[in-house]
Amino acid sequence: MDKEAFNRQLKEETEWIGKITREFMPKDIVYQKTIVDAMEYSLMAGGKRLRPMIMWETYKMAGGSEESLVLPFMAAIEMIHTYSLVHDDLPAMDNDEYRRGRKTTHIVYGEDMGILAGDALLNYAFETAMSDFEDGHKILLKAKALKILAQKAGIYGMVGGQVVDVEKTGEALNEEELSFIYSLKTGALIEAAFMAGAVLAGADSGTVAEFEKAGHYIGMSFQIQDDILDITSTAEELGKPVHSDERNEKSTYVSVYGMDKAVQAVRDYSERALGILDNMPVKNEFLYTLVEMLIKRKK
Ligand code: IPE
Ligand code: IPE
Ligand code: MG
Ligand code: MG
Ligand code: MG
Repeated sequence: MDKEAFNRQLKEETEWIGKITREFMPKDIVYQKTIVDAMEYSLMAGGKRLRPMIMWETYKMAGGSEESLVLPFMAAIEMIHTYSLVHDDLPAMDNDEYRRGRKTTHIVYGEDMGILAGDALLNYAFETAMSDFEDGHKILLKAKALKILAQKAGIYGMVGGQVVDVEKTGEALNEEELSFIYSLKTGALIEAAFMAGAVLAGADSGTVAEFEKAGHYIGMSFQIQDDILDITSTAEELGKPVHSDERNEKSTYVSVYGMDKAVQAVRDYSERALGILDNMPVKNEFLYTLVEMLIKRKK
């Protein structure tokens, strides 16, 4: 895809996703206002909106054409992802003070509200995803997408990966442990984005499984690149602190295998994902270019 056209669409979609996510936020809140402020503080700070973007592009690629069916799920996955970041930054976890170019939620609102804002984002994600379930329209597809979201966020997904990440802090990791952590803490929500998009469009289980695989490879590549950037980038560019992994004594792909192998692994995993997308009967040039671009991403 032409670079200029890609960048234009990327910017438009990023802004659009931010806007629709904001529109789903709770209104008319009186006494709990602090928590809604804290939720919005992290959610509206920006971010690449990668997961909702993947969900949207996969939905279209799999033949979906009803925007209103997928929008609540797009907002929901961004809320779940944002909650995972708010909690990941807490003093008991990575103890980081910057995120998305601002002070972290717990620094601004206190640790108590940081914990509650994460809880609220997670719960509200499901309220959002289910916001129009009463209408009964395509209810089985919505239920399937909801189940994917729940599983990929939980102990078989993101939370499970974070648990092992925390537990193994300060220890050397073998290949299997590293893959397990990356595939769950980061891969699972990216897999969910692909799968929910495909499921909502009515894709068959074989196709959904292929998208899941693509999500897995992108997740691996994405986390290894995140580890690389933690060493090679700057806080200004990333919008979050650098050298967080070293300070926390985290074993990462880079610390275990070295920088050259890590750079190669980002390419290899992304190539595998691109191969899967290439084999799909329908092409989505924007999604393909997005995955290509992630290899070279600087933030
Ligand atoms: C950061 O995710 C956490 C990881 C899984 C590495 P992103 O890099 O997608 O963060 P935002 O949403 O753009 O802030
Ligand atoms: C965390 O990985 C992934 C999550 C599930 C939040 P990191 O701890 O490396 O993410 P960053 O670098 O803080 O964004
Ligand atoms: Mg972490
Ligand atoms: Mg972290
Ligand atoms: Mg990191």
